[in-house]
Amino acid sequence: MSIHSRSRSRPASVIAYRRLPRAPSPTTAASSSSVIRRSSPTLTPVPDELEAHDLPVEGTLPPELDGRYLRNGPNPRPGEAAPPHWFLGRGMLHGVRLKEGRALWYRNRWVRSETSAANTAVLHHSGRLFALIENTPPVEIDDELGTIGTYDFGGRLTTAMTAHPKVDSETGELHFFGYGPRPPHLTYHRLDPAGNLVHSEPVAVPAATMMHDFAITRNHVVWLDLPVVFDRELVGRTLPYSWSDSYGVRLGVMPKSGGPVQWFDVEPGYVFHVGHASEDAAGRVVLTAVRWGREGFTADWPTLGVRDESPAHLHEWTLDPATGTVTERALDDRGVEFYAVGANEIIKYDATSGAARTDYLGAGWRAGEAVFVPGAEATGEDEGWLISIAGHTDPAVPARLLVHDATAVEKSPVATVTLPRRVPLGFHGTWVDAG
Ligand SMILES: [Fe+2]
Repeated sequence: MSIHSRSRSRPASVIAYRRLPRAPSPTTAASSSSVIRRSSPTLTPVPDELEAHDLPVEGTLPPELDGRYLRNGPNPRPGEAAPPHWFLGRGMLHGVRLKEGRALWYRNRWVRSETSAANTAVLHHSGRLFALIENTPPVEIDDELGTIGTYDFGGRLTTAMTAHPKVDSETGELHFFGYGPRPPHLTYHRLDPAGNLVHSEPVAVPAATMMHDFAITRNHVVWLDLPVVFDRELVGRTLPYSWSDSYGVRLGVMPKSGGPVQWFDVEPGYVFHVGHASEDAAGRVVLTAVRWGREGFTADWPTLGVRDESPAHLHEWTLDPATGTVTERALDDRGVEFYAVGANEIIKYDATSGAARTDYLGAGWRAGEAVFVPGAEATGEDEGWLISIAGHTDPAVPARLLVHDATAVEKSPVATVTLPRRVPLGFHGTWVDAG
């Protein structure tokens, strides 16, 4: 399949988030996933693998959707010791095959790797499918979601690989990075369109920070060197990163081809996920991301996934390489994140106008990340489909695959596929086009 898969290019103005309800969660302090399982039915792992064919569809599946929606997330095996943090559970992939207006199959498979939980995201690039997690190299997956094994690009990749690589829609190259506690703490990598690792370059940073995401624009890479720092004292107890008041808070702009980084000091905050980045006519880099403040981050970090309300908000930074100055502003006061447990709305933000459209999914429903698939005949950049898996707080209610018209998110889904089982909420999905 071509590298220019339709799933590769998120259109510039479409950012689909999940919104969290205002009602407080009954769960407060909890630090083990066993507690998470008890208190958050939408996170409870499923105990087995299964597959089903010809799934029931309500509404009309767009016939042009020919491919697979794949989603990753933590799902410890039955009997396995509960990991100390939601982010640490073994990965499970859920997949739904759509073709000619039908939902041909659903299947779920654990990622079977001894060296990687590979629970965070799915990547399809240069004909290969990978399960990703940011502390190991990628794990290659076959078309039936079976595990092939760790993939190191012919021995060239010697670092971990972020779960949020970026495809350059103009060149077909894949930009990514690896970070970790051993120096170099940050390494920039680039794959050519054929999947060859053609560039690896250390980026100087003072220490290892938890760098979950980054951004690319037409000419630049944008680094998030933020104050959640490797904490040796936490090794073996939980995810060993904690907030630091002394580390500094910086965004960096670097040429995509490599070279020196221009750093910009910004207000204290942490970012898991970037929404959008671009360059304006004056050459300034404009970055939109979900920003966590110190208080919200430190309160939620140990029990992430439990609380029903996100303290993080959409935020914008404008970095001017010509003057070295930065401006920043809050864009919205709604609590949002990509992976939040309590999300019962899908929101589309227009990055240009700031307008938001939402679809409320109904009582008990919790939406997963919505993946944008451009329409076959799209002329506008938001024309296409948003695909997500929604779960219900009642474990007896099977999950649903939702397909929304991206231009009219506030309307009901154009199609709802009933899956043969409950699907725990997870992290990131992707669309792999069969075309
Ligand atoms: Fe993520």
